Amino acid sequence: MSRSPIVGGNWKMNLSLGEAEALASEVRHRLGSYPGAQTLIFPPFPYLQAVAGRLGDSPIGLGAQDLWYEGKGAFTGAVSAAMLVSVGCKWVLIGHSERRHVFGESDEIIAKKLRAALHAGLKPVLCVGETLLERQAGQTFAVCGRQLRTALQGLQRSELEHLVVAYEPVWAIGTGLVASPEQAQEVHADIRDRVGDILGMDFAAKLRIQYGGSVKSSTAAGLMTKPDVDGLLVGGASLLAEEFAAIVRAK
Ligand code: PGA
Repeated sequence: MSRSPIVGGNWKMNLSLGEAEALASEVRHRLGSYPGAQTLIFPPFPYLQAVAGRLGDSPIGLGAQDLWYEGKGAFTGAVSAAMLVSVGCKWVLIGHSERRHVFGESDEIIAKKLRAALHAGLKPVLCVGETLLERQAGQTFAVCGRQLRTALQGLQRSELEHLVVAYEPVWAIGTGLVASPEQAQEVHADIRDRVGDILGMDFAAKLRIQYGGSVKSSTAAGLMTKPDVDGLLVGGASLLAEEFAAIVRAK
């Protein structure tokens, strides 16, 4: 089964408006007509509309880093799925480890966010991954499995047509510690099996699974050679257009 590569750049809480616009233009310039991989970028909320303008009609996908699951109302500081759609987003990160661990969001909250995204027609990148303590305790597969099950249980395959899963070991994010291609592969294969248990093996065979955690251009190609690594989710290195473009082109 060949799955087309998909690489995302998560800009996190970085850049000024001017820097974000310049980076978006540069990413478009370098990758806007690259046919080898689907490219996504996830700027901070306040820059989404301006970045949408810079991306124009290019095939680069615009996404948000998060959303809140309620439709509207007294949720100070929160941003709804419909708001994201209205400023040009097509994609959204759901359950990034910084939402889970810095902001204390539970598997149940993330399940609600996934449903809100799907309901609004946003394509979700569902992030899962274990902490260092969980890995050392031999719980990597169980933790990722629990995160997947809680998020996906009860959803129909037809609703999840555009689902992408990102495996992001927490110990590798922003730490410079990248998982080896072999470590990524064994977890990706297990994620695919577990998604198969929930949604059927034919669904799982088509699912694209990204690896995220300290990816650089020097490590991207090695990760992408593994059969179950279908793409990358890049944080820090996505803030440099040349480096990000080299990662997208790594396969
Ligand atoms: P990093 O972040 O590449 O800076 O480790 C990855 C991510 O959190 O998506």
